Amino acid sequence: MTATPPPHRCLFVTTALPYANGKFHIGHIMEYIQADIWVRALRMHGHEVHFVCADDAHGAPIMIAAEKAGLTPQAFVAQIASGRQAYLDGFAISFDNWHSTDGPENHELAQRIYLALRDNGLIAQRTIEQFFDPDKGMFLPDRFIKGGCPRCGAPDQYGDSCEACGAVYAPTELRDPRSVLSGATPQLRQSEHFFFRLSDPRCVAFLQQWTQSGALQPEVLNKIKEWFVPQDDGSSGLSDWDISRDAPYFGIEIPDAPGKYFYVWLDAPIGYLASLKNYCDKTGRDFEALMADPRTEQVHFIGKDITYFHTLFWPAMLHFSGRKTPNTVHVHGFLTVSGEKMSKSRGTGLDPMRYLQLDMNPEWLRYYLGAKLNGRNEDVDFNPDDFLARVNADLVGKYVNIAARSAGFISKRFDGALAQPDTEGSALLQQLQGAAARVAAHYEGRDTARALRDIMQLADQVNEYVDRHKPWELAKQSEQQQALHAVCSTCVACFRVLTVYLKPVLPQLAQRVEQWLGVAPLSWQDAGHALPSGHRIGPYQHLMQRVQTSQLEALFAPAEPAPVAPPLGGEALAAEIGIDAFAAVDLRVARIVQCERVQGSTKLLRLMLDAGEQDDSGQPRLRQVFSGIASAYDPTQLQGRLTVLVANLAPRRMKFGLSEGMVLAASAADTKASPGIFVLNPDSGATPGMRVR
Ligand code: MSP
Ligand code: ZN
Repeated sequence: MTATPPPHRCLFVTTALPYANGKFHIGHIMEYIQADIWVRALRMHGHEVHFVCADDAHGAPIMIAAEKAGLTPQAFVAQIASGRQAYLDGFAISFDNWHSTDGPENHELAQRIYLALRDNGLIAQRTIEQFFDPDKGMFLPDRFIKGGCPRCGAPDQYGDSCEACGAVYAPTELRDPRSVLSGATPQLRQSEHFFFRLSDPRCVAFLQQWTQSGALQPEVLNKIKEWFVPQDDGSSGLSDWDISRDAPYFGIEIPDAPGKYFYVWLDAPIGYLASLKNYCDKTGRDFEALMADPRTEQVHFIGKDITYFHTLFWPAMLHFSGRKTPNTVHVHGFLTVSGEKMSKSRGTGLDPMRYLQLDMNPEWLRYYLGAKLNGRNEDVDFNPDDFLARVNADLVGKYVNIAARSAGFISKRFDGALAQPDTEGSALLQQLQGAAARVAAHYEGRDTARALRDIMQLADQVNEYVDRHKPWELAKQSEQQQALHAVCSTCVACFRVLTVYLKPVLPQLAQRVEQWLGVAPLSWQDAGHALPSGHRIGPYQHLMQRVQTSQLEALFAPAEPAPVAPPLGGEALAAEIGIDAFAAVDLRVARIVQCERVQGSTKLLRLMLDAGEQDDSGQPRLRQVFSGIASAYDPTQLQGRLTVLVANLAPRRMKFGLSEGMVLAASAADTKASPGIFVLNPDSGATPGMRVR
């Protein structure tokens, strides 16, 4: 192969901006891993990639969540933002910048883009009728109005759709509507709104062209075509988009329109540009020049649920404000866990932070998800058995195993120096090297599943080579040392090439391999040439553990119940019991007939108790109980008092005699911090032998 270096590319890559109202879930992490693998592959070719993201800070739900938490929206969002880095570092996501849509760059850019659209005649003003909460003094988003479904009558349905029958409607159609925020009956009020005129023929013509420019996957384009189907009234099928909200709203003010804010989805994608600008300003780059350069490729990774925003509104906003439009909008499917949709509200699924806290290797997940993502917008399932099998059998069993089988001999027998591969080994190595362009193309096409399948097939070939040459047997024969050296050197050379190919997926492992081999960070080109013979490598240390079943069990174990705070009397509540367990304890009222100190014990008092029992001859039978209350009571204090006895406790033989039960007393968990033991006393009127229940 002739290796003409590919032309240098410059890319601006983003993932969707997560709402700043909660922690990351595994769906977010999947999106970041997908984009990160793509970005890392391009960087390995020497291309310049600016990879950024940000929190999506604005909108009514965040404003309301902040209010509930007793925080300003800014403080609320800042709190969420402070938790982000631990996940990104944990899963080795290589964003260059993380910003917020509430940053000054976004305020400025959103207003500038809006004004350009307005000057271009694409903003309309119209009066609409909307529900208003008179108690809260605010217009209500659809999701904050509930009532009966207008079609099936199911009660307690959201203002936009019915979960019972699937009907989609306007909140004004609900039966007995009420505000979720205050419970008040909402009132219909008029308000002046701003619209982006997507139905304008210029927009329609532009979007027809842009959507077919190669920016979209074929299956996404197919779906989008439905949105352009002309309506009965002759309109294009694209409707104007309501981009304003009334105060109070956490968002960006609309210029020349006091009390009006941009709807969160107007300023959210502009946040891509704002994060890039923030990054450029911090690193001394020229943002406007970068975005004006036609060679800068703009690429967005998103989930299928937000396609409409990214393939219609966003390119139209950019184009008609005189800006570069996206080169690629790459749509992925949803992650399910064991075939089930993740539920944030029920807290099911795979918690990425717990994964990290269990010390599970983040690259297992990167590899597993990489092996499932094929560049189409299909859903992807995380299945624990499949995860264990793929990581252990392929990643560890095939790839890592090549090093594990050969590297020890190089350090022990040959002082860490590599030799020339033998003829067969050279041919094998060449075959691996010849896959560089093919594997790169799979990464480029986001078909990481294909890339990893190809790489594992190459690893299979190397393992077959090892099986044929059996280094462990060569090692036993003194006249075979040269052959052993050549075979093991071939393995290390092949392992190095495979590491280049896997590096976008396994950056941390690749780094450990680089250290071990004593080489500079591997780039894609490095696959094309081998290390010179005589090159010394370090002692081999195991590169990756296998997944344990117990780790997966812990990952999916039901969450521990939250500790009761503050704990009752300084002690956590014991596990819940049923009424039967309680009824099994026979508690009786008993009179302390006699009480004395115990010779040889500072803790115990000896109590003689009348619990209303008789012996065979009809005489009152007293029970002897030793109780650890000597520090709190003088024997005379207790004599004659009523208390509560655990009457069916198995008798216990003690140094001082038989103890036939136990009396109940209260004490703090920490008797040093709050001393005292308090014997229980039934109210007056109770008599010995009565059951306590
Ligand atoms: N804030 C908007 C995006 C604004 S972009 C200018 C949003 N946020 S989100 O937090 O709900 O979703 C962020 C990304 O995560 C989206 O691309 C979404 O598709 C993706 N995912 C949400 N749930 C997902 C799965 N279960 N699986 C994979 N991705 C998922 O939408
Ligand atoms: Zn219904």
